[in-house]
Amino acid sequence: MQKLAIIGGTPLRGTVRISGAKNAALPILCAGLLTADDLHLTNLPDLHDVATMRRLLEQMGIKATPGAGEITLNGAAVDKLEAPYDMVKTMRAAILVLGPLVARFGEARVSLPGGCAIGSRPVDLHIKGLQAMGAEIHIEHGYIHATAKKLKGARIFFDIVSVTGTENLMMAAALADGVTVLENAAREPEVIDLADCLRAMGAKITGDGSDTITITGVASLHGASHRILPDRIESGTFLVAAAATGGDVTLCDTRADLLETVLEKLSEAGAQIDVGTDTIRLRMTARPKAVNVRTAPHPAFPTDMQAQFMALNCIAEGSAMVVETIFENRFMHVQELRRLGARIDVEGNTAVVHGVTRLEGADVMATDLRASASLVIAALLAQGETVIDRIYHLDRGYEHIEAKLSQLGANIRRLK
Ligand code: EPZ
Repeated sequence: MQKLAIIGGTPLRGTVRISGAKNAALPILCAGLLTADDLHLTNLPDLHDVATMRRLLEQMGIKATPGAGEITLNGAAVDKLEAPYDMVKTMRAAILVLGPLVARFGEARVSLPGGCAIGSRPVDLHIKGLQAMGAEIHIEHGYIHATAKKLKGARIFFDIVSVTGTENLMMAAALADGVTVLENAAREPEVIDLADCLRAMGAKITGDGSDTITITGVASLHGASHRILPDRIESGTFLVAAAATGGDVTLCDTRADLLETVLEKLSEAGAQIDVGTDTIRLRMTARPKAVNVRTAPHPAFPTDMQAQFMALNCIAEGSAMVVETIFENRFMHVQELRRLGARIDVEGNTAVVHGVTRLEGADVMATDLRASASLVIAALLAQGETVIDRIYHLDRGYEHIEAKLSQLGANIRRLK
């Protein structure tokens, strides 16, 4: 099990390049299943989850030609319509092959994702949507087995906003007969990026970015080239680290319009933020002020930034409420932050963080992707050394994180 050793107390200073978004890359890689032509993707992040998705697609018969930060997929020879348990259990986003396989090949066998640290995370809305489009679905031996001669357009209402649910059904509808309307759809920028890629492939999609998306099915989709949009959560994570350490950091290759609520909260905490066309600069000269956050679907405050702001609030002036409304168990970083000296009370889905003047380094353990990011931030501001165990969680979603942080002056090294 690899660990990260961090000696805190140094303000982060300098410039860091933001990578392509993990949560756009994963559905867009699955769009490669929708065509027999070449799909060329650039600004592809070098992440563990992206490598897992690529392996999953290759074992289905997709031909993948990787390059530096890019890949070309070709779905002409797809001959295995299955996502096996051993791959789905390590990456829930594998569910995103379901819609494309049924849409293009009329069949799919996808393992039900297991549980997940942050919540039960069912996929019932994905299944309900495909059934509404005429798919026959049986669940047996832990697998979703879906068949459909030809999917038909339908009006689908999401009773819970689901990002990958919206993405799965948008891809399925792209090749269905007729018009599909997704209501109460997710509005995340990654949904828009997928729609942009599908449109480049010939899909007819309008309304992405709003809560109602209309897809008019076409007979087939052709190849295209698409650049993955910048990762707004990686951007937010580095900005919070800069604020927490009282630093001065400039992000490049990013887009401020993707994380407006995060920037507002950082300004509220006392940070000075300057935005350029593809840059964001954050300076923090005083102790942060405590800021309340309440997670909700985009464009509200993102759940994937909740743990990072909790770390910032640990050493802020005053107390703050952190309310998690998306997942039922996304406070596992609290116990670990307490080991560093944080004062946090949890009641249900609400945590009250009482700012202290300093945290002390300690041994801690990562439990999920964004919890590990929050521990890195806390370690960067703590006095002394912190060793974070199980950092494979971190490698799933942050490209070359210790190289990027070292470049900003952090004292960080990976322990084999
Ligand atoms: C996506 O997960 C992201 N992952 C998550 O990022 C992110 O936290 C989440 O959206 C919320 O923004 C990817 O895009 C690959 P949901 P997803 O379906 O789509 C419930 C990260 O850190 N639900 O929007 O799986 C579900 O349990 C990851 O990068 C159902 O009940 O999340 C949750 O409570 C973590 N039935 C809520 O909806 C369903 O069929 C939102 O889940 C689907 C979801």
